Amino acid sequence: MEKTIDQEAIEAMKEDNQGYCTPEYCYRDAKKTHEEVAKRITNLLNIKKVDTCLDVGCGFGDLTIAMGKYAGMSYGVDCNEKFIDVCRRKNRRRRNLVFLNRPSEKLPFERESINLIVSKTVLEHVDDVDKTLSEMARVITKRGIVYIECPNYMWFWEGHYKVPMIPMMPKPLFKLYLKLIGRPTGFLDGINYVTPNQIEKVLKSKGLLVVNLSDQIMRKRVGYVLSRIMMFTQLYPTIIIKGVKI
Ligand SMILES: C[S@@+](CC[C@H](N)C(=O)[O-])C[C@H]1O[C@@H](n2cnc3c(N)ncnc32)[C@H](O)[C@@H]1O
Repeated sequence: MEKTIDQEAIEAMKEDNQGYCTPEYCYRDAKKTHEEVAKRITNLLNIKKVDTCLDVGCGFGDLTIAMGKYAGMSYGVDCNEKFIDVCRRKNRRRRNLVFLNRPSEKLPFERESINLIVSKTVLEHVDDVDKTLSEMARVITKRGIVYIECPNYMWFWEGHYKVPMIPMMPKPLFKLYLKLIGRPTGFLDGINYVTPNQIEKVLKSKGLLVVNLSDQIMRKRVGYVLSRIMMFTQLYPTIIIKGVKI
């Protein structure tokens, strides 16, 4: 019997994630939430419509598709050929969506050609965080916005494995802990321990004005004083950063 595109996507995800989570769950979960994510991002950034949007590390393209409502052209780039193949086959009829199989370290766009870049839960997976950020800074237009959302490894939780962790826990120690609780360890090798300071430093060095939006979000959740302490110590769960090219 021929496989459906969804079945192929789930198999591709199984190959990619080395058993750290249930692909069926991750795949369906991603599909459900991205409309909401796009709404939240555009509200946070106060954006109604842009000419061009690029989703770096687009996975199965759900955020690229959702951002297509707010962009003349919505591009998705991912290094996984099978994921991009699924994106293309599922969206043949949508004229303002383009999916490209390229690495984030070498984005296939001209300098200053994209108005809005979004990247959600990707930086912790890329081969080279600094190169990826530099590429985003290269292709974003003047006054264009780079929006980054990813886990903060200064925090006490590893969201892929869904386990508590010591901030920046040395990988050999983390692997030992995973083995003890009967979890696969291979996936950890590909994880970058990204931190807010690291992201801010690279974007600033490339001429972007950086605003840490996590501050604003944490303030609503835990109040002014606690959020100030969390920002100062960098101890908060999710990095949400806006960079504007000046
Ligand atoms: C956790 S998924 C997130 C997918 C999507 N952004 C979302 O929120 O649903 C991470 C994605 O980053 C992609 N990725 C990892 N390293 C990459 C790289 N160097 N260049 C492009 N994409 C990359 C993976 O193939 C995967 O699709």
